[in-house]
This record gives sequence, C-alpha cells and structure tokens, in this order.
Amino acid sequence: MKLLVVNGPNLNLLGRRQPEIYGTKSLADIERELRESFPEVEFEFFQSNHEGAIIDALCATDARGVVLNAGAYTHTSLAIADAIAGTGLPVVEVHLSNIFAREEIRRQSLIAPVCRGCISGFGADSYKLAVASFLQ
Ligand code: DQA
Repeated sequence: MKLLVVNGPNLNLLGRRQPEIYGTKSLADIERELRESFPEVEFEFFQSNHEGAIIDALCATDARGVVLNAGAYTHTSLAIADAIAGTGLPVVEVHLSNIFAREEIRRQSLIAPVCRGCISGFGADSYKLAVASFLQ
C-alpha cells in the first residue's frame, strides 16, 4: 500500500524547533523510523512551507491515503480543507503536540471535519499511529 506523508510549514525545522514542544527528532529521523517500522508500506514523503504546494501534492498523488501534519495551516487553511474534500482522499490529521491543550487558536482545526481522524500529542509516534490506522 502506498501512503503519502505530508508535512507543512516549519516542520523542516524539527529537531531544533522548540524541542520542548516538538521533540528532538528531525523530520528525516521520523521518515526513517516510518520506513523501518512499516516495511510493507510504500512511502512518499513531501514537505513544504507553501500552502499551494501542499494542495498540489494532495491533488497529484496516487497514494491510497495521506498522513498530514499541516502545521499552522491546520488552523487557517480552508484551501487545504477544500483540497482534501475535493480529492476525496482519506486523510489522517497528525500533530506532534496536543493541539487541544495549547493556545486557543491551535485548538481549532479547519481540516478536521474533512479528515478521517486526528492523532495529536504523541510526538513522533503520532505519525506511526496514523500509518497504523491505514493498516487496520
Ligand atoms: C503542529 C501544531 C501546530 O499548531 C503548529 O503550528 C505546528 C506543528 C504539531 O505537529 O504539533 O507547526 O502541527
């Protein structure tokens, strides 16, 4: 099974970005762990700091499902929500931090209503839990 793992703005900084919130693993570490943990999955990884590029990646993929950490676009992007709804892709929303335990603005997700589910607060393991949800 092919899965697309999309990371949005500033997630390229993982490992050195506010490690007390996001942990010390880099995005490359997380991607490597996913490949090691799920050898049966064909992964496509994509990271961008640009909203339109994320939408283009969602529209172009032939993956069976998507694991999406949209970063701050989670809280602002009706356009990404529309792309998820428009493509009909099954998308699992992930966050390293527990967005529901953070500032008011982060407790709202514009993409949650069009996602299959949301996994938030398990650090790098959030990605593994999201991938596992596709293997049920
Ligand atoms: C995040 C949470 C967002 O609020 C934040 O803007 C991020 C990372 C997370 O993984 O915890 O960039 O999506």
